Amino acid sequence: MASKSTTVGKIDDEVLAYTAGKDILLDRNLVREDCIGSAAHAVMLSRMPVKPAIITPAQVKKIIRTLKGIIAQHEAGKFKITPADQDVHLAVERALTRNLGDLGKKIHTGRSRNDQVALDLRLFAKPRLLDLIDGTAALAEVMNKLGKKHVKLPMVGRTHMQKAMPSSVGLWATGFTEVLLDDLELLKTAYALNNRCPLGAAAGFGVPLPIDRQLSSDLLGFEAPVHNVTHAVNARGKVESVILSACGQVMLSLSRLAQDLMLYTMPEFGYFTLPAAFCTGSSIMPNKRNPDVLELLRARASVVLAHAQTTLNILNGAPTGYNRDLQETKEPFMEGLALTAASVQISTRCLANIQVNRQALLDGFSPDVFATDRAIELVGQGIPFRDAYHQVKAHLDELEHIDPVEAIAKKTHLGTTAGLDFTAYSKQARAVRAWTAKQRQAFNRKIARLMA
Ligand code: ARG
Repeated sequence: MASKSTTVGKIDDEVLAYTAGKDILLDRNLVREDCIGSAAHAVMLSRMPVKPAIITPAQVKKIIRTLKGIIAQHEAGKFKITPADQDVHLAVERALTRNLGDLGKKIHTGRSRNDQVALDLRLFAKPRLLDLIDGTAALAEVMNKLGKKHVKLPMVGRTHMQKAMPSSVGLWATGFTEVLLDDLELLKTAYALNNRCPLGAAAGFGVPLPIDRQLSSDLLGFEAPVHNVTHAVNARGKVESVILSACGQVMLSLSRLAQDLMLYTMPEFGYFTLPAAFCTGSSIMPNKRNPDVLELLRARASVVLAHAQTTLNILNGAPTGYNRDLQETKEPFMEGLALTAASVQISTRCLANIQVNRQALLDGFSPDVFATDRAIELVGQGIPFRDAYHQVKAHLDELEHIDPVEAIAKKTHLGTTAGLDFTAYSKQARAVRAWTAKQRQAFNRKIARLMA
């Protein structure tokens, strides 16, 4: 059986192909992160109080210069991760060693691929999560604007998809504003869990060297190190599953919004019209205008939710310490994050440009929609509610058509058609975006300083 000699010894070809799996491709997404993490580790090693120094400050400069070269090479599409590398970590070490000889061979002192990959994935997730949080807040604001603009525009409220009571476009739209604001809380929690540094945990048990984990964490702009080194490695996959679960909640909101839009843009309803760019045609039926984007939002919500479940299933029953199983959480994680970001972005564009059809919304009303309002009116005349209910029920065909604009104006209590606080919603969304701007700026500054 053929085998390859690798940085870590000879490995059987078939075993190498099977175990490296998709890492050779997926790890291309982690080259920059791996180099940044290596830079922080090198700086930390050079400041470690050991004699003789493992790496001198002058050598750190060389290492960082070489790491920047690797990033540049990668950005030019010229950095290769070969099957013999197995993954980005050994590819970067190989490149450092090729350039720097023995100095390159020192980079792995006091670290393991286990803390490295955990670090790379957290560095990968951080800016993406910030962008996703921003995007989700932007969509919440778009829905808020839509609601505010059409606060007085009636829309039939439905239960069981059947006509129920008078509602408004304002109430419908800001229902999505608020669920997205809830989703933002989940994303921010995921961000906070992700914002801890696993570097220096090594294989998960520490090393007999005075590793300064606080320094590594500070250099990389994390909130703090993960304290327990075993947990730092065990949390691999768990953090991803939390991020994916939050993404899944966002996707759930988008898919329900998409479902409403599919219904309400059907010609039979005509409440809304999708922007022309969002409709696709058919190869045979010249008349078709299909809501493909909305359908894919619905399906991709299922995909992201399944990815969250996949990572949880891989972790379920996993014993303490690194196990190669964890590698399989990488693909669902990367794809789930990317799908969610793209879905939020396209939803925002769609909703910012949706056409609202006043007449069709008004035409949706029929007298039965006012049945409950009528019963409440009778309550005002001193009739007990249950009696009023039966009275209206017995004479449904005698119900009068009420002006729905007046009907929705009469509901003034907290959070109903005439009791919505659009200002509070937009304040919340703007506060989130101010927070992401600060986080992003602080992170970018740290990385720029480290790599300078
Ligand atoms: N490519 C591996 C992964 O993603 C890196 C860690 C490998 N560590 C190990 N002990 N085999 O999980």
